[in-house]
Amino acid sequence: MAKNLTQKIIEAHLVSGEMVAGKEIAIRIDQTLTQDATGTMAYLQFEAMGVPQVKTELSVSYVDHNTLQSGFENADDHRFLQTVAAKHGIHFSRPGNGICHQVHLERFAKPGKTLLGSDSHTPTAGGMGSLAMGAGGLDIAVAMAGGAFYLNMPKVVKVELKGKLKPWTAAKDIILEVLRHLTVKGGVGRVIEYTGEGVASLSVPERATITNMGAELGATTSIFPSDEATRIYLEKQGRGEDFAPLAADADATYDEELIIDLNTLEPNIAQPHSPDNVVAVKELASKRIPVQQVAVGSCTNSSYVDLMRLAEVLKGRTVHPNVSLVVSPGSKQVFEMIARNGALADILAAGARLLESACGPCIGMGQAPSSGAVSVRSFNRNFEGRSGTADASVYLASVETCAAAAVLGYIADPNELGEFPAIDLPEKYLVDDRLVLAPAENPADVEVVRGPNIKPLPVNTALADVLTAPVSLKVGDNITTDHIMPAGAKVLPLRSNIPAISEHVYVRVDPQFPARAKELGKSVIIGGHNYGQGSSREHAALAPMYLGVKAVIVKSYARIHRANLINFGLLPLTFVNENDYDTIAQGDEIAIDNLTEQIKAGNEITVKNVTKGTTFTVTHDLTGRQIDIILAGGLLNYTKQQAI
Ligand code: F3S
Repeated sequence: MAKNLTQKIIEAHLVSGEMVAGKEIAIRIDQTLTQDATGTMAYLQFEAMGVPQVKTELSVSYVDHNTLQSGFENADDHRFLQTVAAKHGIHFSRPGNGICHQVHLERFAKPGKTLLGSDSHTPTAGGMGSLAMGAGGLDIAVAMAGGAFYLNMPKVVKVELKGKLKPWTAAKDIILEVLRHLTVKGGVGRVIEYTGEGVASLSVPERATITNMGAELGATTSIFPSDEATRIYLEKQGRGEDFAPLAADADATYDEELIIDLNTLEPNIAQPHSPDNVVAVKELASKRIPVQQVAVGSCTNSSYVDLMRLAEVLKGRTVHPNVSLVVSPGSKQVFEMIARNGALADILAAGARLLESACGPCIGMGQAPSSGAVSVRSFNRNFEGRSGTADASVYLASVETCAAAAVLGYIADPNELGEFPAIDLPEKYLVDDRLVLAPAENPADVEVVRGPNIKPLPVNTALADVLTAPVSLKVGDNITTDHIMPAGAKVLPLRSNIPAISEHVYVRVDPQFPARAKELGKSVIIGGHNYGQGSSREHAALAPMYLGVKAVIVKSYARIHRANLINFGLLPLTFVNENDYDTIAQGDEIAIDNLTEQIKAGNEITVKNVTKGTTFTVTHDLTGRQIDIILAGGLLNYTKQQAI
């Protein structure tokens, strides 16, 4: 039977399950990557599994998020990451080497391989023909220990690219166009697979801009075929031997289709505060919206060609007096190349402010815009407040459109800049991997350095057969992972310190919650609809677990948070009759008898409200494997039991 590219790669890695859309499958993982903000926890979890060396073909630990060192915490994390990598067979990309996705594309991604990363933009490597997916740190730890990755078989959407991009129109405009059509929910449960004649004219870094921002569609991942452009890119990176041709069968079928005509595509821009709020730039150009900040960089748009094009536009020009232009090259490779060929001098001469090769302003690490400012960025997200300034208006656009805003001082169609600077891939990329440290040859000699910010990983215990616990908190609908576990510059550096970070659980909703939950020892949380919506932040399950929360009973869950609760051994239950929510109060004593028997017997469980003397029914909807994970006290214990 004819197969699309996604089906081919999944089939080659299938461990269990049926390749039917929506059904659970398990696949083997070839490569993993982590970044520092999620990596510390992933490696603590990996250590707890007791597997001495990673079993993947390649695992890389990057440092790109928390690179500011205004206290000891981030520096402690970096030393831990470096030593734990050396000990367990993991490559370590030192701070300064660049953003994980950019560096992975340049130096490690391979066509046809599966890549699992503890960062939502891991699909960037789909530009190379990898099946690259983001997941929680615990899933990465399991994959490094040789375990399979479980997911629901995705639907596959064909995006056919016709024609060729016009001058001043870029790969970023293609993905913004796809976002305009499919919206931020349009990719959920789907892989976006690019086909058509337009593919051949896009270089690997351009393809990677498109697959990177597939994350904003909510897609499982996005992927391009591996073809002549892939071979050329790998040759230029000195990795010709990593090339393998890969494409969908000519008569492959897809679940859905979208056609984008590159011949007629115009420069696009995503308006505040959502990446799918997309219009053609020329629709805004006539309004001459003044711009106060322009930021070029991020894992989406900071390749060699991106930076060279910026330099060409800036050459002989001056950054507008009202604009702060900040530039962060995506990798040391790009940074060094533009430094050596003089392009960096053009960027600096024009008045740009240079940042290190890291995520930086993309996660609000410095360079917050001024109050009420308009910031035009080559990044991938523009949610309210993400820039660090609550009332800033962030627009997302190509590097070309950013460059136009930087010199003109307002949102402008880049065609206003005149002649288009045609820039090609370099003859050869500058290859110098000295900032990537190979694992130790004698792991026994390596001592893992744990500064005061690295605390031992709390591990859950197996679930008791009788659960009797008070309700420590009752919340309403649409609780986000930000409500449960806030982010921000104060909390983020505590991610490897669960006792410290757990002091922040639910504090925005109820400042007394952490102390109360700890005092109760074990407890249950009651919630409304869409509980745990937002990010994949696993600390929103791990930290409540640390505080003794054993079960959560709600009207409905956001999918990823429910999966995280299971991973950490918290029982995720749903009311059968939503009116029962109203009968429970904070402080009520809840009891479930014969828990193991009830969970295994079917989906429904009887719960007693001891305080009120009533009973009600909940459902668990767990698969057999998930039941075993819950009973074991979480995925970590379950994985150890499986003795992989
Ligand atoms: Fe970093 Fe922003 Fe990408 S935080 S990994 S540059 S989405």
